[in-house]
Amino acid sequence: PKLDVRFDVAELVRRVPLFAGLPSERVATIATLLRAQLALPGETIVRRGDRGDAMFFIASGAVEVLVPMLAEPVKLGTGDFFGEMALLSRQRRNADVRALGYCQLLVLDEKDFRRLVQKDADLQSHIQAVAEARRQPTPSS
Ligand code: CMP
Repeated sequence: PKLDVRFDVAELVRRVPLFAGLPSERVATIATLLRAQLALPGETIVRRGDRGDAMFFIASGAVEVLVPMLAEPVKLGTGDFFGEMALLSRQRRNADVRALGYCQLLVLDEKDFRRLVQKDADLQSHIQAVAEARRQPTPSS
């Protein structure tokens, strides 16, 4: 069963555009850092005000982000990520993130996030650019 779990993670990693173009060797390395987590419909995955200790990639399913400044929730789906802002800013979670149905998530713990972006400048700038856009008052998605 342990081997099966690892295999599943590598398969899930390929669904995330951020990783999809990487060589399979690199995908395998990243897969060892990610942990698969199933979120149940309606489950709050990230809570506003909490300390951020991980970020999440959506391998399948959808979530809604409840941004206090926005009238409408922002919907994220397969291939998107969330929970990066607290890690980048070292501030608390700025929104609740709730699963809209069953969601397969890939969790990247803070220490692995820091190691990963330190080694990969492209990855870092991509995640930073997305976080930057989300900080703007109007939703980009
Ligand atoms: P974080 O602050 O760690 O936890 C809440 C997350 O919601 C945040 O990281 C982002 O990943 C996400 N988020 C916050 N604001 C927006 C937004 N305007 N659009 C999309 N996602 C957002």
